[in-house]
Amino acid sequence: MNKDLKIYVAGHRGMVGSAIVRELQAKGYSNIVTRTHAELDLCNQHAVANFFKEENPEQVYLAAAKVGGIHANNTYPAEFIYQNLMIEANVIHQAFESGVKKLLFLGSSCIYPKMAPQPMAEDALLIGKLESTNEPYAIAKIAGIKLCESYNRQYGQLHGIDYRAVMPTNLYGPGDNYHPENSHVIPALIRRFHEAKEQNSPEVVIWGTGTPMREFLYVDDMAAASVFVMELDKFIYDKYTEPMQSHINVGFGTDLTIKELAEMIGQVVGYQGKIAFDKSKPDGTPKKIMNSDRLKQMGWCARVSLVDGLTIAYQDFLMQPNRC
Ligand SMILES: NC(=O)c1ccc[n+]([C@@H]2O[C@H](COP(=O)([O-])OP(=O)(O)OC[C@H]3O[C@@H](n4cnc5c(N)ncnc54)[C@H](OP(=O)(O)O)[C@@H]3O)[C@@H](O)[C@H]2O)c1
Repeated sequence: MNKDLKIYVAGHRGMVGSAIVRELQAKGYSNIVTRTHAELDLCNQHAVANFFKEENPEQVYLAAAKVGGIHANNTYPAEFIYQNLMIEANVIHQAFESGVKKLLFLGSSCIYPKMAPQPMAEDALLIGKLESTNEPYAIAKIAGIKLCESYNRQYGQLHGIDYRAVMPTNLYGPGDNYHPENSHVIPALIRRFHEAKEQNSPEVVIWGTGTPMREFLYVDDMAAASVFVMELDKFIYDKYTEPMQSHINVGFGTDLTIKELAEMIGQVVGYQGKIAFDKSKPDGTPKKIMNSDRLKQMGWCARVSLVDGLTIAYQDFLMQPNRC
């Protein structure tokens, strides 16, 4: 792969986008183009068209999205569906218009039906009803996959375009959101255990039974997988995908219970107290894990162990200027 390629990373200030920039730089890519949200609102069609005309990137990583937890998804469903549809449609279409041959779209595991067989394989897409709390967001992400596939099907041969899509499992790591109410499980637990340690609290209480099983991937592994998929020979990509089922799951490969996760985070943070579970609170789905065999067959698997990733994530949390 030519390391002078002009590459646009959309969402480079986000957790995943910043990790993709780090990975590209580490691999020697030297011509990376970025714009902050303030400089370029990706919901604005004219602005996006002008950007692509001006910069003419050769490749695009689409890691910009309106992202949030259950509460935000439930409270602002219109913003979630509208903004994500606009970002995807604008970036993918304008990339095509300006001659971008290769693009990688980042989706999410929430594209799969609520009752999808576990582990969730790529062919579980559209076989059942989605989880209602984040359905608008999931529909937008499914539209992103279908945009890539449709452009490939209509223009692939004629214009030589090759737009791919990866679906990450739950991610964590540097650049995560540690907001007290609006964060995912790992950053939320890091904050709670850290605060409990600082305040010498005898107990940390966690919602639910602690038995649900979840999968977590370190964000730099996600970035490595993204660049791996982008660099992958088209022959291999086509061998393991189909034109109308072309997305690729990116998971860690194993899961653990919330109780095991909490104990591990407690150890990483150095919390000495007790961990209790409030069983009156809801648990959510009992098990949610990706089937990442497709990516494994293509030649990639995760490298960073959960304990190593959590240790780096905790150091990142400690460096946050506004964490308390
Ligand atoms: N984090 C996870 O656990 C996870 C799991 C699965 C999939 N993913 C996927 O990975 C991708 C990136 O997620 P992330 O965790 O890195 O999210 P993030 O940290 O919130 O980053 C998203 C980035 O997109 C930018 N953005 C949002 N709306 C924009 C707009 N209209 N114009 C320009 N920029 C805009 C944001 O800028 P501002 O902050 O300035 O708005 C931010 O820099 C998303 O597609 C997400 O679905 C993430």
